[in-house]
Amino acid sequence: MRVWYRPGRTRWENGGVTSTYDVLLGRLSSAFDAISEGTDPVLRTSDRSDYQANGVMALAKSRGENPRDTAQKVMEQLDLAGIAEVEVAGPGFLNLTLTTQFLNDQLRTLISDERLGVAGSTGRTVVIDYSAPNVAKEMHVGHLRSTVIGDALARMYRFRGDTVIARNHVGDWGTPFGMLIEHLLDLGEDEAIASLSIGDLDSFYRGARAKFDADDAFKERSRARVVALQGGDAETRRLWQILVDESVAYFAEVYRALDVTLTPSDVVGESYYNDMLDDVVRDLDALGLLVESGGALCVFPEGFTNRDGEPLPLIVQKRDEGFGYAATDLAAVRDRVSNLHADEILYVVGAPQGQHFEMVLAVARAAGWLPAAVRCEHVAFGNVLGPDRKMFKTRSGETVKLIGLLDEATQRADVALALRPSAMTESERRHLATQIARAAVKYADLSTDRQRDYVFDLDRMIAFEGDTGPYLQYAHARLRSIFRRLEHPWDPSATTFTLNDRAERELALGLVAFPEAVDAALATLQPHRLSGYLFDLAQRFTAFYEACPVLVAPEPQRSERLALCELTSRTLALGLSLLGIEAPEQM
Ligand code: ARG
Repeated sequence: MRVWYRPGRTRWENGGVTSTYDVLLGRLSSAFDAISEGTDPVLRTSDRSDYQANGVMALAKSRGENPRDTAQKVMEQLDLAGIAEVEVAGPGFLNLTLTTQFLNDQLRTLISDERLGVAGSTGRTVVIDYSAPNVAKEMHVGHLRSTVIGDALARMYRFRGDTVIARNHVGDWGTPFGMLIEHLLDLGEDEAIASLSIGDLDSFYRGARAKFDADDAFKERSRARVVALQGGDAETRRLWQILVDESVAYFAEVYRALDVTLTPSDVVGESYYNDMLDDVVRDLDALGLLVESGGALCVFPEGFTNRDGEPLPLIVQKRDEGFGYAATDLAAVRDRVSNLHADEILYVVGAPQGQHFEMVLAVARAAGWLPAAVRCEHVAFGNVLGPDRKMFKTRSGETVKLIGLLDEATQRADVALALRPSAMTESERRHLATQIARAAVKYADLSTDRQRDYVFDLDRMIAFEGDTGPYLQYAHARLRSIFRRLEHPWDPSATTFTLNDRAERELALGLVAFPEAVDAALATLQPHRLSGYLFDLAQRFTAFYEACPVLVAPEPQRSERLALCELTSRTLALGLSLLGIEAPEQM
């Protein structure tokens, strides 16, 4: 294995590493199994000691024992290599303290591992349904959340080695398209395209809506147009395609501005499933699941009732014979399972659609379209609130344009940067402001428990202090500046970690915990597990940097500290990249 370093340029080869966490968990599992099969330990990092093992309670229960006695037995079975201290604590936890030698070995492997200890996967196929704005409508902050969370998950899965199939399930079908097409004709194609391509989607939509509400003849034309669209009329399809293409081009611009990995080829909108909807109805009927109710064709999945305790229908085909949102999602599940061979399907969609997904998935399972082995989850998220803690709207009550928020954030970052002494050119500064703005907006979203609402507060998000994206970027840039000051090439592979200073040890413990944080974020589909870890690491670094001079320290301390800095910098950069946040070299 060859590891070499030159300031600003690093190349690493993978060493096939098992993380500290996995080593300890593996040993604990063996100790548990030696006592009796069936229960698993839980391992956490802890403030009291380095790690804390839980799960003894369950083991004790299965044996009808006092948990503290069981903990004692686990302790006797435990392979203690590299463990300096183990003690039974509380009602039956095990507190583990690692030896410096063990931490040294772990850090040395991380140095030569470009994955920083994060294990690869068995190559699963994961379909992530995210972003999903609607054609000829502005993307609102809800779509921001879906886009940012979905993209972070996509990056984490890809890094793990899974195949991610992004599905941008855009709303490109349904009754509104009658009025939208008629409006397009009224405006004239060129005029309409011009208005859509400057991203003025909402005013286009509002224009159509206003006419639809005020003008009966327009309403009639719109209705006839929907019929023509559904009937496959070629000219109508062409006009519809203009709306779709212009909107998709606009979405792509927003994705580029956000630095999101979605591309136009990930757009597989509702219309894609049209041809599959008849089969959905036919097959549900053949299975005896379809019930006519009030003229509509419905499925009543088991376990769903309304407030009065009456069974709740999932409407598959409406009275007017049109198919709805649910039918499309049923077809999409089938497509993803049988054609895309998904091992996992994730829907990154707001919490209010929770019942919709529960019902769709329940029906898909009942129909046998969704095998139990396929993990299928609604990755739900809460609302973005304005400063008044109500739904985030502009002062005039309109949805807030995503791109406008980003521009404002960029502006503010640029102003803040301009105030600092720096050798940056204007265009470098502008670029950096863009990177900071994206980090601010994305991090604010990704660092809150996604189920919760959060307040969109640009001042807080863009601050260089506190739990913010720019703070983490800044911590990384500070680290890079240490290496820029190095005069001679420096080789971290020969480092021995003695971790004599408490702050060094704390930082080291933070570094070896990275794989655990990535795993936790993936297992729970909660990116904030990773962002919280990164914030903690940055704080450990700050404490270390205050307590431990680096460049002026005598050897071998200097090299050891540089190596800790190097690992911290790489961990921050990799962690941020998994969240879709850039880590500039200089700030
Ligand atoms: N277009 C929908 C909306 O804006 C979200 C679609 C989510 N994905 C899905 N498969 N239903 O609310």
